[in-house]
This record gives sequence, C-alpha cells and structure tokens, in this order.
Amino acid sequence: MEDVQRRSKKRKRGGRSRGKKKEDCSRAVAADAKSPSVYVPSSTCASSTAKIASKSSSFLDKMKAKLSGGYFRMINEKLYTCSGDEALNYFKEDPALFNVYHSGYQEQMSHWPVQPNDIIIKWINDHSPSLVVADFGCGDARLARSVKNKVFSFDLVSNDPSVIACDMSNTPLDISSVDVAVFCLSLMGTNFPNYLQEANRVLKHGGWLLIAEVKSRFDPNKGGADPKEFVKSTCALGFTSVIQDFSNKMFLLFYFQKKEKQRTKEHQIKWPELKPCLYKRR
Ligand SMILES: C[S@@+](CC[C@H](N)C(=O)[O-])C[C@H]1O[C@@H](n2cnc3c(N)ncnc32)[C@H](O)[C@@H]1O
Repeated sequence: MEDVQRRSKKRKRGGRSRGKKKEDCSRAVAADAKSPSVYVPSSTCASSTAKIASKSSSFLDKMKAKLSGGYFRMINEKLYTCSGDEALNYFKEDPALFNVYHSGYQEQMSHWPVQPNDIIIKWINDHSPSLVVADFGCGDARLARSVKNKVFSFDLVSNDPSVIACDMSNTPLDISSVDVAVFCLSLMGTNFPNYLQEANRVLKHGGWLLIAEVKSRFDPNKGGADPKEFVKSTCALGFTSVIQDFSNKMFLLFYFQKKEKQRTKEHQIKWPELKPCLYKRR
C-alpha cells in the first residue's frame, strides 16, 4: 500500500514537473517575443513551437489547396458545359475566377510530361517569323511571348494589355488577315464549331489551323468523339487535313490548311460532340 502511495506521489510530482515545463515554454515564447536578444529559448521549446506552427500552416495550406482545387474543377466544368458568350458573362461577373481557373490549370499541366503549347511554339518557330498568328483561348499568352511572330491573343479575360478580351467566336480580326490560327486545349464551349468558323473567316487561303485537344475528349470508347468525324467536319468547313499526330498520351494534334476554294453555299455540317474534360480530385 505504502509502495503504491509513494509511486502515486512520484507520478504527481512527475506530472507537475511536466506541467511546469509547458509553463516555462509558454513563458519562454512570451519573453522571447518581448526581448529576443536577452532570452534564448531552449531548443526543445523552440522546436515544439515551430512544429506546431508548421503543422497548422501545412494544414491551412492543405485546406487552401483543397478549396482552390474545388473552385478550379467547378469553373472548368462550367467552361466545358456552356457556350462562349455564357462563359464571357460568367467571367465578367467575377473576373477573379479567371485567375483561380488558371492557377488550377497550371497545376494540372505541371503533371503532363509534354505541354501541347510547347509543340505549337516549336512549330511556329520552325516556320517563318513573318507569319501572323491568332491564338484563340491564349490563357496567359505564353505563346505570344515565345515566338518572334506578330500574335493576336484572345481570351475571355485580359490580365495583360497584349490580350484581347472577347468570346473567340467573334474576334475583331479582319477577314483573311492571319496565317496561323491556334487552338491549344481551348475548344471548350458547347458551340466550339463557331470558334472554328471564326478561324476560317480570319485565315488567309492556305493558312494553318493548329488544334491541340485533350485525348479523352476523342475517345469513342469512353463517350468521346470519333477523331475521324471531327476531321471530316473540319474539312467540310473548308480545310484540308495535313497531319494528325496521336502519339502523345495526353493530347491529340491536328494540323489543317485552309482550302484555296471555299464552298460558297451555306451548308449544314454535322459536328461530333466533344466530351467535357473534367479533372479528378487529386
Ligand atoms: C485550357 S486553357 C488553355 C490556355 C492556353 N491555350 C494554353 O495552352 O496554355 C483554355 C483557355 O481558353 C479560353 N476560352 C475558352 N472558351 C473561350 C471563348 N469562348 N473565348 C475566348 N477564350 C475562351 C479559356 O478562358 C482558357 O483560358
């Protein structure tokens, strides 16, 4: 019995001493805050405070990342399921959403081993710098900054004076005024054929139409479009298919040239539906 009491006293003393340590630590922080040059906190106190701070900041960072990831997926889904003019109004109401979308998009792209924009930039740099380029859905306008050519950059929001804010189905470009029209992962709206019609309007005869799109949107086995149907419809619009590059795991590349002779009669083109590209939670 005596033994048990002694042990319990010991435990109490031990408990008190542990409590004292905590007290010391908090006092140490207070003292440190008032007079850092006088008080040097013990390494144990400093490291446990740092650990708590870093744990809570990493928790906060995780929560922030989850929230912005959720916002990104919501905006992304909106852009793939509405028309271009609806998307324009959506960002007009809250232009800050554009930056949220683009930081999420950059995060997603950082996992892609090859960026389609880089392939298009290389293609342009391998051709004449005198070619005039229109970048439809330019994002942060990296393409314009990476080539010597004159580039007209269009997107729904302009955070840069070189970018023209508009719905790309209706650009301020003149008829037959550009040599290359680029759509890099930007055929997002449900009315994407209107974007291609606009490209056809502004391209010179013999001009290039370069399209990079997410592979899953063209996987007929998973509800995507048949790439052959897409090529057929684009050719019916007034283009010749020159190269189809399906070698990349993440995206397809289509290189078309505008035909010299365009159909004069209005005709209905049957376009395949392009499946929205919805990102999973990581
Ligand atoms: C997936 S991002 C790609 C951005 C850029 N081309 C790149 O490769 O980094 C698609 C871009 O197309 C823009 N976009 C989508 N629909 C548009 C429309 N109707 N008019 C103008 N821009 C549009 C979006 O705002 C977005 O910036």
